[in-house]
Amino acid sequence: MIKVAIDGPSGAGKSTVSKAVAKELGYIYVDTGAMYRAAALGCICGEIDISTNPDAAAEMVSYMNIDIKYGEDGTQLIYLDKENVTDFIRTPEVSIGASDISKIPAVRLKLVDIQRKLGEKSNVIMDGRDIGTYVFPDADVKIFLTASPEERARRRHKELLEKGQNVTFEEVLEDMRYRDKNDSTRAFAPLVPAEDSIMLETDGICFEDTVKKVLEIINERLEKNAL
Ligand code: DC
Repeated sequence: MIKVAIDGPSGAGKSTVSKAVAKELGYIYVDTGAMYRAAALGCICGEIDISTNPDAAAEMVSYMNIDIKYGEDGTQLIYLDKENVTDFIRTPEVSIGASDISKIPAVRLKLVDIQRKLGEKSNVIMDGRDIGTYVFPDADVKIFLTASPEERARRRHKELLEKGQNVTFEEVLEDMRYRDKNDSTRAFAPLVPAEDSIMLETDGICFEDTVKKVLEIINERLEKNAL
């Protein structure tokens, strides 16, 4: 099975780009951030403060059933204990909770196990923070997609406004910086580019051109690997 790892910080456009590329190639697409978000949502609903009580959060996650399914149009749906929670995981509260919960090794081990099993079943494009370094160190293609914090905050702000969420640009930028720091300084599987990943900076590059570039990189790499 072919595995393509797309890593990078929040708001770099990983999910929209990966989704489009997966559709073009006929691979399944897995947004691993949604799993950390579902785990955080479960803890928030259970009134567990993840940052001050990581042990209780880890225990709660150990009982959770987190599952990925696909809608008729191929969109990824995320299930928490058999409930479709896809529409509830993109709030600022869940974003911070997901970043906090992702620092807990027991939580990561549980979710990584699910992610590796998904990669056994079909060709996959998986996006996250540690796919090329930890989940699939043997991935066929590894891309690290990034952009400046301001550019990423601008994109995320626009997305949230379109969804009707009332947040300011400064709030989004602050949340982005908090998560960047959290995600790249945690002890276990931090956000760092894999040594053999291809860096792609997307400041000033439109979505269509980024998709084109990612497809080019994948095709070139797969051709090279086949030689
Ligand atoms: O990609 P995202 O913004 O939906 O991810 C939410 C959080 O989950 C992010 O702050 C870090 C964490 N995460 C992670 O640690 N490892 C992954 N593979 C994916 C996400």
